[in-house]
Amino acid sequence: MLLGILKETGTENRVAMLPGEVTVLKKLGLEVVVEKGAGEKAFASDSSYKKAGAEVADRMDVISRSAILLSVNAPVSDNNNFREGQIICSVLNPVENRDWLENARQKGLSVLALDIVPRTTRAQSMDILSSMATVSGYKAVLEAASLRPRFFPMFMSAGTIKPARVLILGAGVAGLQAVATARKLGAIVEVFDVRSAVKEEVKSLGGKFIEVEGAKEDAAAGGYAVEQTEEFKKKQQDLIQQRAMAADVIIATAQIPGRKAPVLVLKDTVLNMNPGSVIIDLAASTGGNCELTENGKKVVINGVTIIGKSDYPSDMSSDASKMFGNNIINLIKIMIDKEGKIVLNLSDDIISGTMAVHGREYISARVKQMLNL
Ligand code: NAI
Repeated sequence: MLLGILKETGTENRVAMLPGEVTVLKKLGLEVVVEKGAGEKAFASDSSYKKAGAEVADRMDVISRSAILLSVNAPVSDNNNFREGQIICSVLNPVENRDWLENARQKGLSVLALDIVPRTTRAQSMDILSSMATVSGYKAVLEAASLRPRFFPMFMSAGTIKPARVLILGAGVAGLQAVATARKLGAIVEVFDVRSAVKEEVKSLGGKFIEVEGAKEDAAAGGYAVEQTEEFKKKQQDLIQQRAMAADVIIATAQIPGRKAPVLVLKDTVLNMNPGSVIIDLAASTGGNCELTENGKKVVINGVTIIGKSDYPSDMSSDASKMFGNNIINLIKIMIDKEGKIVLNLSDDIISGTMAVHGREYISARVKQMLNL
């Protein structure tokens, strides 16, 4: 069974699998072919892939020969080059790539969408959103620390330097990683979230959880947040404004799956923050948690720097690729038999939950729901 690793296009620096993980695939009984230069931007040379036992070939060769193809982002520019029965495994963004997916369905491809792996305990080791959010939360704090004209930790030499105050909005995977990183750098950390379940986790990492009364929670949302009432939103925005005026850094990570990110930091809040403060908005690609965020841009308003950035994993291409590859290996492990042959068992909830299309049908209930099918 031949597995192909494609080179990413555009500004993406990651690769779906590094040579170290290729070695693991070989041990599982798979043969591997890598597109020339695929690992370059993640600091993995063609020769390091060869050393790991992979073949290196041109893109068309990789596509035409592989039974299963891996890429970080859906290979949307290769629409016509795939053949019936091939398995494509990548982050899909089903809504954005709806036409490409429909074409893949009609062609009889099997598309495993890594961004919709079910959020169950068994699937945790395959959860790419989770590992990439870890990278984002870490890197966001480091970027804020380097942009800020002041220290993060307290210093007692040459006068007292007070520790930075960091406000974290949203305590999902990225937010919790941001809490841990900011605490390690010596900051005082405060956290807002609408899910009370994260309160203890925040505390155990050394952060202070700020509770806003009246948050709506829904057990059926699978651990995710739900849209809040107008009354709650107003109350929360006011309290955030109060805490933001005392903060030096805001790391905004709040998201609601399938919806625009909630606006938590209003223009008025930014105008009331101390000059030199920094806001890193990781929710930028879904509209941003700050009213003034511009996706992919840095804006400075009244001395407050706002970074709208949702692609930190690409900046940390080496370790992000390593984590990405490990997640895929864990998924592949439940998809192969002892001889290294792919067996797609749709009665396995992870396979059926992740399989966007297969056998000319839409399979994943989540994808059907996202596409209103
Ligand atoms: P996310 O990226 O969807 O959202 C980030 C955070 O923002 C969440 O904690 C959410 O509650 C919060 N948020 C949303 N609206 C907000 C608002 N108006 N104000 C303040 N905060 C708001 O979340 P992520 O990181 O994807 O995690 C969601 C849940 O999934 C967590 O409980 C996490 O532990 C769980 N999870 C489970 C996995 C598994 O079991 N395999 C893997 C990864 C995450």
